[in-house]
Parts: sequence; structure tokens; C-alpha cells
Amino acid sequence: MLAKLDLAHTSPLTSEHARQLDGLLETLSPEEAIWISGYLAGFVRRAQPANAASAAPATGGTPITIVYGSETGHAAALAERAGELARQKGLTATVVDTADFRPQDLKGVKRLVVVTSTHGEGSPPDTAADFYEFLHSRKAPRLEGVKFAVLGLGDSTYEHFCQTGKDIDKRLQELGAERIHARADCDVDYEDQANEWIEAVLGFFSKEDGPSTPKLSVVQGTGAGAVPSASPHPHAAVVHDAKNPFPATVLESIVLNGRGSDKETRHIELSLEGAGLTYEPGDSLGVIPQNDPDMVEALIEALKLDGEEPVPAGGAEIPLREALTRHYEITALTPRFLELYGNAAQAGKLRALTAAENRSELMAYMAGRQVIDVVTEFPVEGLGGKALTEMLRRLQPRLYSLASSPAAYPDEAHLTVSVVRYDSHGRHRKGVASTYLAERCDLDETVPVYVERNKNFRLPADGSTPIIMVGAGTGVAPFRAFLQHRQETGAAGRNWLIFGERRFRTDFLYQLEWQRFLKDGVLSRMDVAFSRDQEKKVYVQHRVLEKGRDIYAWLEEGAHLYVCGDANGMAPDLHAALVDVFQREGGMSREQAEDHLKTLQREKRYQRDVY
Ligand SMILES: Cc1cc2nc3c(=O)[nH]c(=O)nc-3n(C[C@H](O)[C@H](O)[C@H](O)COP(=O)(O)OP(=O)(O)OC[C@H]3O[C@@H](n4cnc5c(N)ncnc54)[C@H](O)[C@@H]3O)c2cc1C
Ligand SMILES: Cc1cc2nc3c(=O)[nH]c(=O)nc-3n(C[C@H](O)[C@H](O)[C@H](O)COP(=O)(O)O)c2cc1C
Repeated sequence: MLAKLDLAHTSPLTSEHARQLDGLLETLSPEEAIWISGYLAGFVRRAQPANAASAAPATGGTPITIVYGSETGHAAALAERAGELARQKGLTATVVDTADFRPQDLKGVKRLVVVTSTHGEGSPPDTAADFYEFLHSRKAPRLEGVKFAVLGLGDSTYEHFCQTGKDIDKRLQELGAERIHARADCDVDYEDQANEWIEAVLGFFSKEDGPSTPKLSVVQGTGAGAVPSASPHPHAAVVHDAKNPFPATVLESIVLNGRGSDKETRHIELSLEGAGLTYEPGDSLGVIPQNDPDMVEALIEALKLDGEEPVPAGGAEIPLREALTRHYEITALTPRFLELYGNAAQAGKLRALTAAENRSELMAYMAGRQVIDVVTEFPVEGLGGKALTEMLRRLQPRLYSLASSPAAYPDEAHLTVSVVRYDSHGRHRKGVASTYLAERCDLDETVPVYVERNKNFRLPADGSTPIIMVGAGTGVAPFRAFLQHRQETGAAGRNWLIFGERRFRTDFLYQLEWQRFLKDGVLSRMDVAFSRDQEKKVYVQHRVLEKGRDIYAWLEEGAHLYVCGDANGMAPDLHAALVDVFQREGGMSREQAEDHLKTLQREKRYQRDVY
């Protein structure tokens, strides 16, 4: 039993809370009290709003500012993890989203850690655009005396791999800051490399500060003196994430396109009953797919492998066939695969292509080709399953915008999936996850899923705020969720949807539902752009230009503008169309129009979810 503390006089608690806590403390053993202290530390951290900069307890040493630029949440999660680890090491660390980082904040920073992904075609995430621009502008301050390190996230199948991380790293050095650790350019399998990098960077700062006693009471481990963290709570709910997905039962899977369409877009309904998963309109569902068994067999046959050979996968040794089905990307080519396979095959052509100076030739070779093309063109005798899996990267989850609102469909998740199928280099190709969902997930079977939050694609908190939604193809999915949510919550704000697809007759996704929303007055206005119904292609950006006067008027009245869908063609064209509209309707110069759009973005009134 612990000695009674005079909490009513020594704490900020109300006298009632102080009395209750004093009473509880009297009954606790020291072990129980230690456990509760760890539990509360974790509880408080988890209760902090996700978008707030998480301040650290003052523990001495020069404070570290960890700034992240993230679109789909990976860099944000790593930055938060780095902040957490810094605090466990007794360092002072603050984690800030680039979207909330004001240029003037850079002045006081002495230790800067940047964690950023790359999006678009080598551009910063939308939320990091201002930060990136400011750093590269003439207004950026000199940074002599600042110690920095940059962690880049990307995907090596893109031509501009980790470009934003590279640019920021270079720029910080140009501004006079001192790089204390080499930049890491992490591919989609980033966990191990990123964790090692974070350890090394924080290790540097710890060493620089000299020995200090960690003050935070959350310490990993169970040895003597270790304080348990909040996670071992015996009744804590199971958390479903990419590593521990929830098996969601398929309730519905129907093709939305009409007969004769050259597209297959599926509406898929999944049951989340019992998952304890919550989501908001704007979030995505992560799907852990399996590879096409025909492709698995084709690879095994092409390389004369033994499908039963035990190989390492997911922390265990399992038969090669299962490993290729569930654990490795067996279609997408990466520069790393081509380099390793080129060496094994002693293929001069592949070796030349993977030389650093031949990046554009390498990208041209990779376009439309897959692993099966390479192993067929350059066969290797006796490669073995283990050697093959060491060359492949881990199978990645795919994200799908949630097309339902939990307010309308509690315990369900609806998706709108465009099934990827195309021909290239003489072969028929199938997208891994979209054909897994379309062809191999029958009704009543389960699909492993988790929720990927997107705090940068949110309905306005005030339901009376008008919204304009621009969605092309499957980009309309989150707007179905938005409208359901606005209907269920009785939000009074006006809703305008601008939808684009190929053909009115076959590709008007969810046509009846929009008509119902119009009839019920939920949808105040709808405009459509069917690109292939007339000789001249018409896209959503053309509708935006055409309806510019009304769009400008809505925005002037405080509307929020949302854009979802294709990142390469639609999003930049739409952005340009909006600039045109502001020039024309607002009498702005090009520069003022660009600035106006940036201001809307900063105020979270212009949000994009493009892929
Ligand atoms: C935040 C977010 C939300 C998303 N929401 C949705 C959504 O709501 N609905 C949806 O359908 N998708 C959505 N996606 C895309 C989705 O995650 C997958 O990328 C998509 O389904 C393809 O995955 P796959 O495994 O089927 O194809 P993969 O096996 O990953 O193959 C796709 C690759 O094939 C190649 N390829 C595709 N077409 C061609 C072609 N014609 N010629 C040559 N090469 C080609 C490209 O390299 C492409 O990257 C979203 C993505 C993100 C990041
Ligand atoms: C639409 C889109 C475009 C992307 N463009 C690039 C790119 O040009 N270069 C790159 O290295 N990675 C690119 N990526 C990969 C992301 O950087 C990678 O998935 C990263 O882990 C995302 O981190 P985030 O969730 O913090 O944004 C792109 C991803 C998406 C979805």
C-alpha cells in the first residue's frame, strides 16, 4: 500500500478528483502504481489530437524539430514515431506537420529533422508545398548553426525517386545548415531502413547532449526498473493496421459500368462488424492483396523453381508458392530487382540499364514490363526460390477511398474499384489488388483490410458550409461518402458535384444515387463531363472553366473545394483551370490567382486526394 499524498493541495486536480485519486492510491501496491503511471502516459499521448504538434516534456538538451510532409500518412507516422523515441531517449522533440509550420518558425530551430514523401511526378505532398517553396525561395533564412537530417520516402518505380527529400536535403545544405547524417531514400519497404535511420540520427543528438536521464516514464522492456507502457492493458481493444489487418467479409461486389463499356469499375461492400475500426469520410481503406495464382505458377515455371521450397516470408519459413502469392510483389519491376537479377543472369543489357547515369533508359525499359518479362528474356538456371525472393520487394497494401459514411452504413465499408487490365509487350496484364478484389474475392469470403486516415481530406466542421466536389472516375468515391454523411447529419450546406467519366450510357457511376440525392435536395447541383460522347474530349476541368463564374461565387461565399481522382492528367489541368477562373472572375493577375489558390489550400478550403 502507498502512503497517502495530499493531492488536494499539491496538484492541479479538483478537490473531488484529488479525493478519488488519493483514495485509489491508498489501495495500490507499488507495482500497480507503476503500471498505472505508464498507462496514463500512453493514454495522454494517444488522446492528443492527431494534427496538433506534439510537444515534449522538457528534458534539457537542444530541442529537435521534426517536420513532416505526408500525403497518405506514412511520413507522418514515422515522424510521430521518431518524436516518441526521442522523448524516450530523454531528448526534447516537437513533431510538426509542414502544413502547420510557419516560415518564421525556422529561425529558432537548431536541430531540424525532415521526414517527407514525394508525390505527383516528383513533387512535394500538397501539405508540404508551401514549406518546400519557402525553403527554395529567396526569403529562406541562412541556416548556419542548424544541424539537420532528411528522411525521404518514395517508390523506386517512379522516375523521380524520393525527389522531395533529395531537394530539401540539398537546399538545407545550400542555406548553410550542417548535415549530421546522410539522407535516406526509402522505397515502399521503408520500415527497417527508416527505423535504423531514426535510431542513428537520435543517437547522434543523444551523444551530443551527453548523458541524461530519460524523464518520461514510458520505457520499453520488462526488465527490472522498466515501466510498462500503455499498450499492455489487458482489456485494450485489438488495433487493426497494415500489420494486423481485419478480415472483412465481402457483402456485395457489382460492376457499375453498363454493357459495352471498355472499363470495369466495381462497387464493393465489406463488413467491418466486430473490427472496432472507425473511419471518417475522406479516409481510405488499405487492402492487403494476394497475387494472381496464374502469375505465381508462370514465374515458378519460367525459372524452373520448386514451389514447395521453404523461403523466408513474413518472419517465418514457408513454401515458395505461398510466399509468392501472399508476401512478395511479383509483377512490378524495380531498379533493385533489375540490378540483382541482371547480376545473377550476367545480363549485360540489364547491368548497363541499371547504371546510375541511365535512369531515363531504365524507366523506358520498365514501362509496361513486369518481372515475368525479364525472367523470360534473361533466363537463369538454378536461381532458387530464396535468391528470387531476396530480389523482390514486399507485397504492398493498396489504398481505396471509402465510398460510404459510417453514419449511413455503420460497420460497413464501401469501395469503388477500377479494375486494372491492359496489354503490353505482347502480354495481358492484371493489376494485383484490383483483380484480386474483382476476380478472387467472392461474396462471403474475407479481405484483409485496415483504415488509412487522411486528415487532409475532410468535410468542413461546420455543416452549413457549401462544398464543391470534383471527381473523375473512381475519384467520385469519397463524394458518395461526403453526401451520405451530409444527409445523415442534416448538414444544411449546399453540395455541388462535378463528375467526369468516359461515356454517359455506360460509365455514369452511381447515377441513380446522385439522382436520389438531387431529388432529396442533398445535392444542390450536379455537372457532368463525358469525355468520349463527342468528338472533342470534355473533362471535368472544362466544366470548371465553363462554370467558372458560379465556382468563384461559391468560393467567395466560403465554399470548400475538393478534388479526387487521377493525379497525372486531371489534377494539374484542374489546378490550371482554377487559376484561369480566378483571373477571369476575380480580376486577378496570374500570380495573384496562384496565391489565392495557395491560400485556399492553406486554409484547408482546397483539398485534393489524387493518385
Ligand atoms: C489515397 C489513394 C486512394 C485511392 N483510391 C482508389 C479508389 O477509390 N479506387 C481505385 O480504383 N483506386 C484507388 N487508388 C489506386 C489503388 O490504390 C491502386 O493503385 C489501383 O487499384 C491499382 O492497383 P493494382 O494492385 O490493381 O495494380 P498494380 O498491380 O499496382 O498495377 C498498377 C500499375 O500497372 C501499370 N499500369 C496500369 N495501367 C497501365 C497501362 N495501361 N499501361 C502500362 N502500364 C499500366 C502502372 O505501372 C501502374 O502503377 C487509390 C490510391 C491512393 C494512393
Ligand atoms: C499519386 C502518387 C504519386 C507518387 N509519386 C512519387 C514520385 O514521384 N516519386 C517517388 O519517389 N514516390 C512517389 N510516390 C510514392 C510515395 O512517396 C510513397 O508511397 C510514400 O510512402 C508515401 O508517403 P506518405 O504516405 O507520407 O505520403 C507516389 C505515390 C502516389 C500515391
